[in-house]
Amino acid sequence: MDYSYGLAMGLHTLAALVWVGGMFFAHMILRPAALDLPPPQRLALWRGVFSHFFPWVWACILILLATGYGVLLLGFRGGFAGGPTHVDLMQVAGLTMMVLYTQLFFGPWQGFKRALAADEWEKAAGYQVRIRHIVTANLILGLGTVFVGVVGSLLGT
Ligand code: HEM
Repeated sequence: MDYSYGLAMGLHTLAALVWVGGMFFAHMILRPAALDLPPPQRLALWRGVFSHFFPWVWACILILLATGYGVLLLGFRGGFAGGPTHVDLMQVAGLTMMVLYTQLFFGPWQGFKRALAADEWEKAAGYQVRIRHIVTANLILGLGTVFVGVVGSLLGT
């Protein structure tokens, strides 16, 4: 086993952990705990949470792409043409997650910040629902991708 392959996969797994774990925490733990707060406080809390989390997501995306395609390009897993099925599935799910996140970041997240700055709570709440839907979809895709990635690499499919 090549050291650079091991290092790349270590970083790849850490980036997946931070992105998917952050979404899991936000959706499954923080969201229900914050539901009782009055809307202005709840929305301000989410603004703070997202503005701290989103730069990490960009970093995770860069690391996942660099390490994932690095491993494929360097031929550790048979290159693009000969890559195993679980890596094909991972690319489809992973690239979908990245497109959804980019749409979230440049769409509803910008609208959410503008609405909050103008004290338009209802509008901000509408954007927050859209953000939540995208995060839910990405959380499901992310959990599935991690499962497929780990099981696939162990079974060598
Ligand atoms: C979109 C581009 C991506 C590419 C090109 C890619 C590529 C790869 C490759 C080549 C492997 C090694 C597979 C093996 O050794 O059998 C791998 C493993 C893995 N990937 Fe990805 N991946 C991508 C996205 C993602 C995403 C978005 C996640 C999770 C959010 C993810 C999570 C994992 C995990 C958990 C492993 C298993 C690591 C291990 O236990 O060895 N990948 N990926």
